[in-house]
Amino acid sequence: MDVAAWCSQSRVWVVAGKGGVGKTTVTATLAASAASAGLSVLIVELEGKRGLGTTFGRKGPVGYEPVALLGSGPDDAGTLGKPPAGGVWARRLTPDDALLEYLGDHGLQRVSKRLVSTGVLDVVATAVPGIRDVLVLGKVKQLERAGVADMVVLDAPATGHAMTFLTSASGLLDAARGGPVRQQAADVVELLQDPARCRVLPVTLPEEMPVSETVESARLLRDRVGIHLGAVVVNCYEKGPPELEVPAADAARDSGAALGGPASDALDAARTFRLRRLRLVEEQVGRLARELPLPQLRLPRVFAPSIGPAELDHLAGAMSGAIEGLPPPDGTL
Ligand SMILES: Nc1ncnc2c1ncn2[C@@H]1O[C@H](COP(=O)(O)OP(=O)(O)O)[C@@H](O)[C@H]1O
Ligand SMILES: [Mg+2]
Repeated sequence: MDVAAWCSQSRVWVVAGKGGVGKTTVTATLAASAASAGLSVLIVELEGKRGLGTTFGRKGPVGYEPVALLGSGPDDAGTLGKPPAGGVWARRLTPDDALLEYLGDHGLQRVSKRLVSTGVLDVVATAVPGIRDVLVLGKVKQLERAGVADMVVLDAPATGHAMTFLTSASGLLDAARGGPVRQQAADVVELLQDPARCRVLPVTLPEEMPVSETVESARLLRDRVGIHLGAVVVNCYEKGPPELEVPAADAARDSGAALGGPASDALDAARTFRLRRLRLVEEQVGRLARELPLPQLRLPRVFAPSIGPAELDHLAGAMSGAIEGLPPPDGTL
């Protein structure tokens, strides 16, 4: 499927999964892939960590004001409201940021800063579980409604059970009787349930535990919240070259080299170890396909000390290739 068309199926893409599976990397990869197809992309980051900027070669964490990670940035006067075609901007959005904006939008600008600095959000958050998530997603909804970019990619938080972030709004909707909080939760649920506006992209590693957890949480999101899952990203997928099947001694003989017993044994031990590991990967992606029948976007493991612009380019190319290999949607996703 065409990359721009695939990404345009929905305005907001929520990249979700347990901590460490590669959410931030996949967020950056999807954004870069969409941008290379000509879309304008805004990444919304919720933790203010360093990782996202680093992948694009930017030093330091991303702040509240949008910054350009690819292409030209917002101008100083702040009049350029949208990333250019092929550009990626990013901004951070914490519950405090979202609360400040919410209060500001509701005529409480002057008190809002003091409320946040005195930790009032913590009190509210304890009294109304899920309010943080609803505030943040409410802001995302506002960005989506304002058409801030062709595509908004949200790097979902990893804290606790990663998926509660997305189930909070429906929980709150059940609990709150009325008022602005209920309205905000209702708007968020509406966003989450509309596949033309929002889809979730679960990320997993091709390993037993992550696959089991991904299957479980994806089903929960679909069944309990009615969220649409775009595809599942298998990060750090590895496939061995066919030569790995050939015993070392045979390979040596075929190429006219002499290989002694101990060397050949050592090579075969390494080869068998690797084969066994790759078989486990295949087993897990097979199980994932059976238990969560979604298209899989497989991203390779890159061998580098950290992921910078060159690695990101490589991953984005793999992402684009995987999307191009997908069949057109048949309405069942
Ligand atoms: N495809 C990949 N190949 C190699 N390293 C990866 C890949 N994806 C993620 N990583 C590395 O794994 C670590 C965790 O990734 P990250 O995207 O920060 O995960 P999360 O946001 O889910 O916590 C980082 O050090 C990152 O550079
Ligand atoms: Mg992260």
